[in-house]
Amino acid sequence: TLLQMSKPARQNLTTGVVPEMGSRATAPLLFFLGLLFIFVKTLQKKATLPGPSFCLGIGPLISYGRFLWMGIGSASNYYNEKYGQIVRVWIHGEETLIISRSSAVNHVMRKAHYISRFGNKQALKCIGMNENGIIFNNNPSIWKMTRPYFAKALTGPGLQRTLAVSVESTRNHLDKLLGSNSTTTTSTTACVDILLFLRAITLDISNRLFLRVPMHEGQIVSKIQKYFDTWQTLLLKPDIFFKFKWIYKKYEKAAQDLQDAVEELLLKKQQELQEAEKLQDITDFATDLIFAQTHGKLTAENVRQSVLEILIAGPDTMSVSIFFMLMLIAQHPEVEKKIVEEIQEVTGEREVQNSDLQLLKTVENFIYESMRYQPVVDFTMRKALKDDVIDGYPVKKGTNIILNLGRMHKDEFFLKPNEFNLENFAQNVPHRYFQPFGCGPRSCVGKYIAMVMMKGILVTMLKRYRVHSHNGTTLENLKNNHDLSYHPNESNSLPRMTFTPRNQAEA
Ligand code: HEM
Repeated sequence: TLLQMSKPARQNLTTGVVPEMGSRATAPLLFFLGLLFIFVKTLQKKATLPGPSFCLGIGPLISYGRFLWMGIGSASNYYNEKYGQIVRVWIHGEETLIISRSSAVNHVMRKAHYISRFGNKQALKCIGMNENGIIFNNNPSIWKMTRPYFAKALTGPGLQRTLAVSVESTRNHLDKLLGSNSTTTTSTTACVDILLFLRAITLDISNRLFLRVPMHEGQIVSKIQKYFDTWQTLLLKPDIFFKFKWIYKKYEKAAQDLQDAVEELLLKKQQELQEAEKLQDITDFATDLIFAQTHGKLTAENVRQSVLEILIAGPDTMSVSIFFMLMLIAQHPEVEKKIVEEIQEVTGEREVQNSDLQLLKTVENFIYESMRYQPVVDFTMRKALKDDVIDGYPVKKGTNIILNLGRMHKDEFFLKPNEFNLENFAQNVPHRYFQPFGCGPRSCVGKYIAMVMMKGILVTMLKRYRVHSHNGTTLENLKNNHDLSYHPNESNSLPRMTFTPRNQAEA
């Protein structure tokens, strides 16, 4: 029919001979193209995904065992290393792809049918994330209603206030810990439990921005830690694990403890709102959620979980990221020199302010290179909500997907991928090759605020103090866990760092 339809038009334009020859040649050509199309389609359908073989169900058992035994991050790297950038394994008997190729990673991140994650439902229920909050909310319609509250709090005017709040919080914590006043430093050199310290700062910043209720930081920080451990321990456990309550009740308690603490903070907030004569000048995340609950738009559980999640997001990710950054600075004096010189040049004697941010290029490249070389959140988990083809491989609806971003950042594009080197960001890096926060509809909703917070904290610290590692600890000899994120193993000892006032360090 296509040929018949094209004939009359051609005859009008040319002599009678040419169209005859044309259509005679076109028919076999189209036939051949059709065959080629079918052949390519069949090849695409038949492309089998690399990975361990099924082998009567032993393959799935081994790969699931590996995830439980090594942790998600380590197991993902193991499989990408062994089978390539796209691998098929099984978790909990479910087909799971581990992807580190940038083209496939970007495909998944940008498409709307990958906006769900995966994890054991009972585990998510235990930690309150099942169909509540945002981070592992796997109910697309509830997630869609919840995410805008986060987006509002983490961009716009909230983002504008973030730098000043980060600077003030960092200064206060340094003062409390090291006894300096706000503008000068004393001669004290202090050894600091660095992760606790950074968690306290990041929690305080989040509280000042999103909740604004007095809290006992130390207590909440320790509850957040136990909550994170629980999340990580339970996330991929088999269903049978949850049949034995006596085994997992300590985890249930850890999750409940933080939920109770957040509930208490929310009650305080509600009281404050009731007592306030008029609505305070700036509303915040918690206030918006409480109103949404009053108007029947969100459930009480969702509100509590959302507040919990916005409070844990900073301490769980940024504190360890900044710790790695401080270690990298301590191990690379030439990089420290460049950063400190830039900070001095841009800010002089005053604190860093919003208009400086675009001028602090070395600081920004340093943060990027640290997140690339020594990432904390180095993968993200998604689920296919529709059948699809990714880079030529067929993917069935329901397939789990792990986007191995950490590995992608070392596999493609960068000049010196396995070295910590600012040259890796000397030229513009196209987005598709560097995605520490993900992109698309389910990306990190805190990506802009996280960068501002990290700049605020780092610049405020580095202006005043030189930070050294303690007892010969280096990133290379530090014991790490590589499960839900990459972080120091804190079960035996807490990492410490030494803070020396800059004026004294330089004397
Ligand atoms: C999700 C990275 C800090 C809030 C994510 C994801 C990544 C990430 C990779 C998954 C994205 C995806 O699936 O495509 C990081 C890093 C951080 C950081 C590297 C700091 C160094 C923060 C902060 C907040 C935040 C400070 C909020 C205060 C969230 C939330 C999600 C998320 C709520 C879940 C979004 C959703 O599922 O819709 N983050 N993040 N993050 N991040 Fe961040």
